[in-house]
Amino acid sequence: MKRTIVALPGDGIGKVVLPESLRVLKAVGFEAEYVNGDIGWDFWCSEGNALPQRTIDLLAKHQIGLFGAITSKPKDKAAAELSPALQGQGHQYYSPIVTMRQHFDLDICMRPCISFPGNPLNFVRRRPNSQIDEPKINAMIFRQNTECLYAGVEWTNPPKNVRDTLETHPKMKAFQHVPGEDLAISCRIFTRNACRRIVKAAFDYAKAGGFKGINIAEKPNVVRETSGMMLAEAKAIAKDYPGMGVWDANIDAMMMWLTKNPEDYNVIVAGNMFGDIVSDGFAGLVGGLGFACSANIGREVAVFEPTHGSAPKYEKLSPSIVNPIAMIMSAAMMLDHIGEKPRADRIRTAIAAVVAEGKTRTYDMLRLTGGPEVFKHGAATTQQMTDAIIAKLR
Ligand code: NAI
Ligand code: MG
Repeated sequence: MKRTIVALPGDGIGKVVLPESLRVLKAVGFEAEYVNGDIGWDFWCSEGNALPQRTIDLLAKHQIGLFGAITSKPKDKAAAELSPALQGQGHQYYSPIVTMRQHFDLDICMRPCISFPGNPLNFVRRRPNSQIDEPKINAMIFRQNTECLYAGVEWTNPPKNVRDTLETHPKMKAFQHVPGEDLAISCRIFTRNACRRIVKAAFDYAKAGGFKGINIAEKPNVVRETSGMMLAEAKAIAKDYPGMGVWDANIDAMMMWLTKNPEDYNVIVAGNMFGDIVSDGFAGLVGGLGFACSANIGREVAVFEPTHGSAPKYEKLSPSIVNPIAMIMSAAMMLDHIGEKPRADRIRTAIAAVVAEGKTRTYDMLRLTGGPEVFKHGAATTQQMTDAIIAKLR
Protein backbone atom coordinates (compact mmCIF):
# COMPACT_ATOMS: atom_id res chain seq x y z
CA MET A 1 0.00 0.00 0.00
CA LYS A 2 1.28 3.45 -0.89
CA ARG A 3 1.89 5.83 1.96
CA THR A 4 0.04 9.12 2.04
CA ILE A 5 2.01 12.25 2.79
CA VAL A 6 0.41 15.57 3.67
CA ALA A 7 2.13 18.21 1.50
CA LEU A 8 1.93 21.64 3.15
CA PRO A 9 3.43 24.22 0.78
CA GLY A 10 2.45 27.27 2.87
CA ASP A 11 3.42 30.71 1.59
CA GLY A 12 6.05 32.43 -0.54
CA ILE A 13 8.96 30.23 -1.52
CA GLY A 14 7.39 27.35 0.42
CA LYS A 15 5.24 26.96 -2.69
CA VAL A 16 8.38 26.98 -4.85
CA VAL A 17 10.63 24.54 -2.97
CA LEU A 18 8.08 21.95 -1.85
CA PRO A 19 7.31 20.76 -5.42
CA GLU A 20 11.08 20.48 -6.03
CA SER A 21 11.39 18.03 -3.14
CA LEU A 22 8.51 15.97 -4.55
CA ARG A 23 10.35 15.73 -7.86
CA VAL A 24 13.40 14.33 -6.07
CA LEU A 25 11.31 11.88 -4.03
CA LYS A 26 9.78 10.60 -7.25
CA ALA A 27 13.13 10.34 -9.00
CA VAL A 28 14.59 8.32 -6.13
CA GLY A 29 11.77 5.82 -6.56
CA PHE A 30 9.76 6.70 -3.46
CA GLU A 31 6.13 6.01 -4.22
CA ALA A 32 3.51 7.92 -2.27
CA GLU A 33 0.20 9.67 -2.55
CA TYR A 34 0.31 13.36 -1.67
CA VAL A 35 -2.63 15.25 -0.28
CA ASN A 36 -2.50 19.01 -0.08
CA GLY A 37 -2.76 20.62 3.36
CA ASP A 38 -3.85 24.25 3.65
CA ILE A 39 -1.65 26.31 5.93
CA GLY A 40 -0.41 29.88 6.13
CA TRP A 41 -1.22 33.50 5.57
CA ASP A 42 -3.86 33.09 2.83
CA PHE A 43 -5.97 31.02 5.22
CA TRP A 44 -5.52 33.51 8.03
CA CYS A 45 -6.77 36.26 5.70
CA SER A 46 -9.67 34.33 4.17
CA GLU A 47 -10.75 32.15 7.12
CA GLY A 48 -9.25 33.73 10.23
CA ASN A 49 -7.22 30.58 10.84
CA ALA A 50 -3.72 29.90 9.47
CA LEU A 51 -4.05 26.21 10.34
CA PRO A 52 -7.61 25.14 9.46
CA GLN A 53 -9.14 22.16 11.24
CA ARG A 54 -9.23 20.18 7.96
CA THR A 55 -5.42 20.35 7.83
CA ILE A 56 -5.14 19.16 11.42
CA ASP A 57 -7.46 16.28 10.51
CA LEU A 58 -5.30 15.34 7.50
CA LEU A 59 -2.15 15.30 9.63
CA ALA A 60 -3.88 13.27 12.35
CA LYS A 61 -4.95 10.74 9.73
CA HIS A 62 -1.78 10.40 7.66
CA GLN A 63 0.76 11.27 10.37
CA ILE A 64 3.50 12.54 8.04
CA GLY A 65 3.74 16.12 6.84
CA LEU A 66 6.18 17.72 4.44
CA PHE A 67 6.06 21.45 4.98
CA GLY A 68 7.47 24.41 3.03
CA ALA A 69 7.33 27.68 4.95
CA ILE A 70 4.80 30.24 6.06
CA THR A 71 4.58 33.99 6.29
CA SER A 72 3.69 35.53 9.60
CA LYS A 73 3.27 39.21 10.43
CA PRO A 74 2.89 41.31 13.57
CA LYS A 75 -0.48 41.59 15.31
CA ASP A 76 -1.54 44.90 13.75
CA LYS A 77 -0.78 43.72 10.19
CA ALA A 78 -2.54 40.43 10.87
CA ALA A 79 -5.65 42.28 11.99
CA ALA A 80 -5.54 44.67 9.02
CA GLU A 81 -5.17 41.93 6.40
CA LEU A 82 -7.99 39.77 7.75
CA SER A 83 -10.86 39.71 5.24
CA PRO A 84 -13.34 42.52 6.00
CA ALA A 85 -16.15 40.00 6.60
CA LEU A 86 -14.15 38.46 9.48
CA GLN A 87 -12.95 41.63 11.15
CA GLY A 88 -14.12 42.51 14.63
CA GLN A 89 -15.10 38.92 15.45
CA GLY A 90 -12.24 38.29 17.85
CA HIS A 91 -10.06 36.26 15.48
CA GLN A 92 -6.50 36.03 16.85
CA TYR A 93 -3.48 35.23 14.74
CA TYR A 94 -1.42 32.30 16.02
CA SER A 95 1.65 30.94 14.27
CA PRO A 96 0.45 27.76 12.55
CA ILE A 97 3.88 26.18 13.10
CA VAL A 98 3.81 26.67 16.85
CA THR A 99 0.17 25.53 16.89
CA MET A 100 1.03 22.40 14.89
CA ARG A 101 3.97 21.56 17.16
CA GLN A 102 1.86 21.99 20.26
CA HIS A 103 -1.31 20.31 18.97
CA PHE A 104 0.54 17.14 17.94
CA ASP A 105 3.15 17.45 20.66
CA LEU A 106 5.97 17.41 18.10
CA ASP A 107 8.42 17.68 20.95
CA ILE A 108 11.60 16.44 19.33
CA CYS A 109 13.19 18.74 16.81
CA MET A 110 16.22 17.45 14.94
CA ARG A 111 18.37 19.88 13.02
CA PRO A 112 21.33 18.38 11.21
CA CYS A 113 24.33 20.60 10.56
CA ILE A 114 26.38 18.52 8.18
CA SER A 115 28.83 20.06 5.76
CA PHE A 116 29.07 19.09 2.13
CA PRO A 117 32.75 19.31 1.16
CA GLY A 118 33.35 21.97 -1.46
CA ASN A 119 30.43 24.17 -0.47
CA PRO A 120 31.82 27.70 -0.79
CA LEU A 121 29.77 28.65 2.28
CA ASN A 122 31.49 26.11 4.55
CA PHE A 123 33.45 27.02 7.67
CA VAL A 124 37.18 26.98 6.86
CA ARG A 125 40.27 27.61 8.93
CA ARG A 126 43.67 28.96 7.90
CA ARG A 127 46.76 26.97 8.83
CA PRO A 128 50.01 28.77 9.81
CA ASN A 129 51.30 28.13 6.27
CA SER A 130 48.21 29.85 4.85
CA GLN A 131 46.70 26.66 3.54
CA ILE A 132 43.00 26.26 4.19
CA ASP A 133 41.43 23.46 6.21
CA GLU A 134 37.81 22.62 5.63
CA PRO A 135 36.90 20.38 8.57
CA LYS A 136 34.09 17.92 8.04
CA ILE A 137 31.22 19.04 10.26
CA ASN A 138 28.70 16.43 11.30
CA ALA A 139 26.42 17.56 14.10
CA MET A 140 22.81 16.87 14.96
CA ILE A 141 21.05 19.31 17.24
CA PHE A 142 18.19 17.93 19.31
CA ARG A 143 16.00 20.86 20.29
CA GLN A 144 13.12 20.39 22.70
CA ASN A 145 10.34 21.79 20.59
CA THR A 146 7.29 22.52 22.72
CA GLU A 147 8.28 24.00 26.08
CA CYS A 148 10.70 26.54 27.51
CA LEU A 149 10.09 30.18 26.56
CA TYR A 150 7.87 29.02 23.69
CA ALA A 151 5.23 27.62 26.04
CA GLY A 152 3.58 31.03 25.81
CA VAL A 153 3.01 31.57 29.53
CA GLU A 154 3.81 35.25 29.80
CA TRP A 155 2.47 38.59 30.89
CA THR A 156 3.18 42.27 30.79
CA ASN A 157 1.55 43.57 33.95
CA PRO A 158 0.84 40.15 35.46
CA PRO A 159 -2.55 39.75 37.17
CA LYS A 160 -2.58 40.41 40.90
CA ASN A 161 -2.76 36.77 41.98
CA VAL A 162 0.23 35.92 39.79
CA ARG A 163 2.21 38.86 41.08
CA ASP A 164 1.33 38.07 44.69
CA THR A 165 2.47 34.49 44.24
CA LEU A 166 5.70 35.58 42.59
CA GLU A 167 6.38 37.96 45.45
CA THR A 168 6.60 34.97 47.79
CA HIS A 169 9.96 34.23 46.09
CA PRO A 170 12.81 36.01 47.87
CA LYS A 171 14.43 37.02 44.57
CA MET A 172 11.32 39.02 43.62
CA LYS A 173 12.29 41.55 46.26
CA ALA A 174 14.51 43.21 43.66
CA PHE A 175 11.41 43.98 41.57
CA GLN A 176 8.95 44.87 44.30
CA HIS A 177 8.73 48.56 43.38
CA VAL A 178 8.36 48.03 39.65
CA PRO A 179 4.88 49.09 38.49
CA GLY A 180 2.91 46.23 36.86
CA GLU A 181 2.82 47.88 33.44
CA ASP A 182 6.63 48.08 33.51
CA LEU A 183 7.05 44.41 34.38
CA ALA A 184 7.19 41.73 31.66
CA ILE A 185 7.52 38.07 32.56
CA SER A 186 8.00 35.09 30.24
CA CYS A 187 8.10 31.69 31.90
CA ARG A 188 10.75 29.16 31.03
CA ILE A 189 8.91 25.87 31.56
CA PHE A 190 10.60 22.45 31.41
CA THR A 191 8.95 19.15 32.29
CA ARG A 192 10.80 16.02 33.31
CA ASN A 193 9.11 13.84 30.70
CA ALA A 194 9.98 16.15 27.84
CA CYS A 195 13.60 16.37 29.06
CA ARG A 196 13.75 12.60 29.13
CA ARG A 197 12.31 12.24 25.65
CA ILE A 198 14.72 14.67 24.00
CA VAL A 199 17.72 13.21 25.82
CA LYS A 200 16.73 9.66 24.96
CA ALA A 201 16.20 10.55 21.30
CA ALA A 202 19.68 12.07 21.25
CA PHE A 203 21.29 9.06 22.92
CA ASP A 204 19.57 6.67 20.50
CA TYR A 205 20.82 8.73 17.57
CA ALA A 206 24.34 8.87 19.03
CA LYS A 207 24.38 5.13 19.63
CA ALA A 208 23.13 4.31 16.12
CA GLY A 209 25.72 6.64 14.60
CA GLY A 210 28.62 5.33 16.68
CA PHE A 211 29.14 8.64 18.52
CA LYS A 212 30.62 8.65 22.01
CA GLY A 213 27.90 10.57 23.80
CA ILE A 214 25.87 13.75 23.90
CA ASN A 215 26.52 17.39 24.71
CA ILE A 216 24.00 19.33 26.76
CA ALA A 217 23.92 23.02 25.77
CA GLU A 218 22.15 24.74 28.66
CA LYS A 219 23.13 27.00 31.57
CA PRO A 220 22.57 25.01 34.76
CA ASN A 221 24.75 27.23 36.96
CA VAL A 222 22.42 30.20 36.35
CA VAL A 223 19.08 28.84 35.20
CA ARG A 224 19.26 26.20 37.88
CA GLU A 225 15.79 24.73 37.86
CA THR A 226 15.14 24.23 34.15
CA SER A 227 18.64 23.72 32.75
CA GLY A 228 19.40 21.78 35.91
CA MET A 229 16.53 19.39 35.26
CA MET A 230 17.70 18.75 31.69
CA LEU A 231 21.24 18.01 32.85
CA ALA A 232 20.13 15.80 35.74
CA GLU A 233 17.91 13.74 33.44
CA ALA A 234 20.71 13.40 30.91
CA LYS A 235 23.05 12.07 33.57
CA ALA A 236 20.40 9.63 34.80
CA ILE A 237 19.56 8.36 31.32
CA ALA A 238 23.25 7.97 30.45
CA LYS A 239 23.26 4.95 32.77
CA ASP A 240 21.12 3.14 30.19
CA TYR A 241 23.80 3.75 27.55
CA PRO A 242 26.92 2.10 28.90
CA GLY A 243 30.18 3.46 27.56
CA MET A 244 28.56 6.70 26.39
CA GLY A 245 29.11 10.08 28.00
CA VAL A 246 27.27 13.29 28.81
CA TRP A 247 29.25 16.49 28.43
CA ASP A 248 27.84 19.80 29.44
CA ALA A 249 29.06 23.23 28.64
CA ASN A 250 27.19 26.45 29.22
CA ILE A 251 25.38 27.57 26.10
CA ASP A 252 27.42 30.77 25.81
CA ALA A 253 30.76 28.98 26.10
CA MET A 254 29.52 26.31 23.75
CA MET A 255 28.64 28.89 21.09
CA MET A 256 32.26 29.99 21.26
CA TRP A 257 33.67 26.46 21.10
CA LEU A 258 31.44 25.30 18.33
CA THR A 259 32.13 28.28 16.13
CA LYS A 260 35.83 27.72 16.77
CA ASN A 261 36.02 23.91 16.58
CA PRO A 262 32.73 22.78 15.05
CA GLU A 263 34.13 19.40 14.03
CA ASP A 264 34.37 18.43 17.72
CA TYR A 265 30.60 18.21 18.11
CA ASN A 266 28.26 15.48 16.97
CA VAL A 267 25.15 15.32 19.14
CA ILE A 268 23.88 18.39 20.98
CA VAL A 269 20.79 18.60 23.19
CA ALA A 270 19.14 21.82 24.30
CA GLY A 271 15.86 23.24 25.45
CA ASN A 272 13.70 25.14 22.99
CA MET A 273 15.26 28.61 23.14
CA PHE A 274 18.90 27.61 23.37
CA GLY A 275 18.26 24.87 20.80
CA ASP A 276 16.94 27.48 18.39
CA ILE A 277 20.04 29.62 18.88
CA VAL A 278 22.61 26.85 18.76
CA SER A 279 21.07 25.29 15.64
CA ASP A 280 20.96 28.58 13.73
CA GLY A 281 24.52 29.30 14.82
CA PHE A 282 25.68 25.91 13.63
CA ALA A 283 23.70 26.16 10.39
CA GLY A 284 25.74 29.24 9.52
CA LEU A 285 28.88 27.08 9.42
CA VAL A 286 27.53 24.64 6.84
CA GLY A 287 25.81 26.84 4.29
CA GLY A 288 23.05 28.72 6.08
CA LEU A 289 19.38 28.83 5.23
CA GLY A 290 19.70 27.20 1.82
CA PHE A 291 20.96 24.04 3.55
CA ALA A 292 19.23 23.98 6.95
CA CYS A 293 16.59 21.26 7.27
CA SER A 294 14.66 19.93 10.23
CA ALA A 295 12.37 17.25 11.58
CA ASN A 296 9.64 17.81 14.17
CA ILE A 297 8.82 14.45 15.66
CA GLY A 298 6.03 13.53 18.06
CA ARG A 299 4.72 10.20 19.27
CA GLU A 300 2.35 9.82 16.31
CA VAL A 301 2.82 12.70 13.89
CA ALA A 302 6.02 14.01 12.34
CA VAL A 303 6.51 17.09 10.15
CA PHE A 304 9.63 17.85 8.09
CA GLU A 305 10.55 21.38 7.00
CA PRO A 306 13.42 23.61 5.99
CA THR A 307 14.32 26.14 8.68
CA HIS A 308 14.05 29.08 6.33
CA GLY A 309 10.92 31.16 6.04
CA SER A 310 8.80 32.17 3.06
CA ALA A 311 11.26 34.81 1.72
CA PRO A 312 8.32 36.72 0.17
CA LYS A 313 10.60 39.02 -1.82
CA TYR A 314 11.65 36.05 -3.96
CA GLU A 315 8.28 34.37 -4.32
CA LYS A 316 7.35 36.00 -7.62
CA LEU A 317 10.77 35.77 -9.30
CA SER A 318 10.56 33.66 -12.41
CA PRO A 319 12.66 31.67 -12.89
CA SER A 320 13.12 31.16 -9.18
CA ILE A 321 16.49 31.78 -7.55
CA VAL A 322 16.13 30.11 -4.15
CA ASN A 323 18.07 27.07 -3.06
CA PRO A 324 15.86 23.96 -2.86
CA ILE A 325 18.46 21.90 -0.95
CA ALA A 326 17.10 22.65 2.56
CA MET A 327 13.67 21.46 1.45
CA ILE A 328 15.06 18.41 -0.36
CA MET A 329 17.09 17.44 2.71
CA SER A 330 13.95 17.82 4.83
CA ALA A 331 12.31 15.30 2.50
CA ALA A 332 15.33 13.02 3.03
CA MET A 333 14.82 13.30 6.80
CA MET A 334 11.23 12.24 6.23
CA LEU A 335 12.51 9.16 4.40
CA ASP A 336 14.87 8.40 7.33
CA HIS A 337 11.89 8.57 9.68
CA ILE A 338 9.65 6.21 7.72
CA GLY A 339 12.22 3.47 7.23
CA GLU A 340 13.50 4.57 3.82
CA LYS A 341 17.05 5.43 4.89
CA PRO A 342 18.73 3.96 1.80
CA ARG A 343 16.74 6.31 -0.44
CA ALA A 344 17.47 9.23 1.92
CA ASP A 345 21.19 8.43 1.74
CA ARG A 346 21.04 8.32 -2.06
CA ILE A 347 19.54 11.83 -2.06
CA ARG A 348 22.23 13.16 0.30
CA THR A 349 24.96 11.51 -1.78
CA ALA A 350 23.57 13.15 -4.91
CA ILE A 351 23.49 16.57 -3.21
CA ALA A 352 27.08 16.03 -2.03
CA ALA A 353 28.13 15.21 -5.60
CA VAL A 354 26.50 18.35 -7.02
CA VAL A 355 28.07 20.54 -4.34
CA ALA A 356 31.53 18.96 -4.77
CA GLU A 357 31.40 19.30 -8.53
CA GLY A 358 30.61 23.00 -8.16
CA LYS A 359 29.02 23.47 -11.58
CA THR A 360 25.51 24.14 -10.33
CA ARG A 361 25.21 26.71 -7.58
CA THR A 362 22.25 28.80 -6.51
CA TYR A 363 22.81 32.50 -5.77
CA ASP A 364 23.29 31.98 -2.04
CA MET A 365 26.18 29.58 -2.70
CA LEU A 366 27.83 32.28 -4.81
CA ARG A 367 27.28 34.92 -2.13
CA LEU A 368 25.28 37.06 -4.51
CA THR A 369 22.58 39.49 -3.51
CA GLY A 370 19.25 37.93 -4.44
CA GLY A 371 17.42 39.26 -7.50
CA PRO A 372 16.77 38.54 -11.16
CA GLU A 373 20.36 39.49 -12.14
CA VAL A 374 21.93 36.55 -10.33
CA PHE A 375 21.75 34.37 -13.43
CA LYS A 376 24.09 36.79 -15.24
CA HIS A 377 26.63 35.99 -12.54
CA GLY A 378 26.40 32.26 -13.01
CA ALA A 379 23.72 31.30 -10.50
CA ALA A 380 21.55 28.29 -11.20
CA THR A 381 17.78 28.45 -10.98
CA THR A 382 15.93 26.52 -8.29
CA GLN A 383 14.80 24.01 -10.92
CA GLN A 384 18.31 23.61 -12.37
CA MET A 385 19.62 22.76 -8.91
CA THR A 386 16.93 20.10 -8.50
CA ASP A 387 17.67 18.75 -11.99
CA ALA A 388 21.38 18.52 -11.16
CA ILE A 389 20.60 16.57 -7.97
CA ILE A 390 18.26 14.22 -9.81
CA ALA A 391 20.92 13.64 -12.47
CA LYS A 392 23.37 12.51 -9.76
CA LEU A 393 20.99 10.01 -8.14
CA ARG A 394 22.47 6.53 -8.24
P1 NAI B 1 13.46 33.94 5.48
O1 NAI B 1 14.09 32.69 5.94
O2 NAI B 1 12.18 33.80 4.74
O3 NAI B 1 14.45 34.74 4.55
C1 NAI B 1 15.63 35.37 5.01
C2 NAI B 1 16.63 35.46 3.88
O4 NAI B 1 17.30 34.22 3.78
C3 NAI B 1 16.00 35.66 2.52
O5 NAI B 1 15.87 37.00 2.20
C4 NAI B 1 17.00 35.00 1.63
O6 NAI B 1 18.06 35.90 1.40
C5 NAI B 1 17.52 33.88 2.45
N1 NAI B 1 16.88 32.59 2.15
C6 NAI B 1 15.85 32.02 2.78
N2 NAI B 1 15.57 30.84 2.24
C7 NAI B 1 16.44 30.67 1.22
C8 NAI B 1 16.66 29.63 0.27
N3 NAI B 1 15.91 28.51 0.25
N4 NAI B 1 17.63 29.80 -0.63
C9 NAI B 1 18.37 30.91 -0.64
N5 NAI B 1 18.24 31.89 0.23
C10 NAI B 1 17.27 31.79 1.16
O7 NAI B 1 13.25 34.86 6.77
P2 NAI B 1 12.57 36.32 6.92
O8 NAI B 1 12.85 37.15 5.72
O9 NAI B 1 12.99 36.78 8.24
O10 NAI B 1 11.02 36.04 7.00
C11 NAI B 1 10.15 36.00 5.88
C12 NAI B 1 8.82 35.43 6.31
O11 NAI B 1 9.00 34.06 6.67
C13 NAI B 1 8.26 36.12 7.56
O12 NAI B 1 6.87 36.26 7.38
C14 NAI B 1 8.58 35.18 8.68
O13 NAI B 1 7.65 35.26 9.71
C15 NAI B 1 8.49 33.83 7.99
N6 NAI B 1 9.28 32.76 8.58
C16 NAI B 1 8.74 31.50 8.52
C17 NAI B 1 9.46 30.42 8.97
C18 NAI B 1 8.87 29.08 8.76
O14 NAI B 1 7.94 28.93 8.01
N7 NAI B 1 9.42 28.06 9.37
C19 NAI B 1 10.79 30.57 9.57
C20 NAI B 1 11.32 31.92 9.52
C21 NAI B 1 10.55 32.96 9.05
MG1 MG C 1 15.28 30.04 14.36
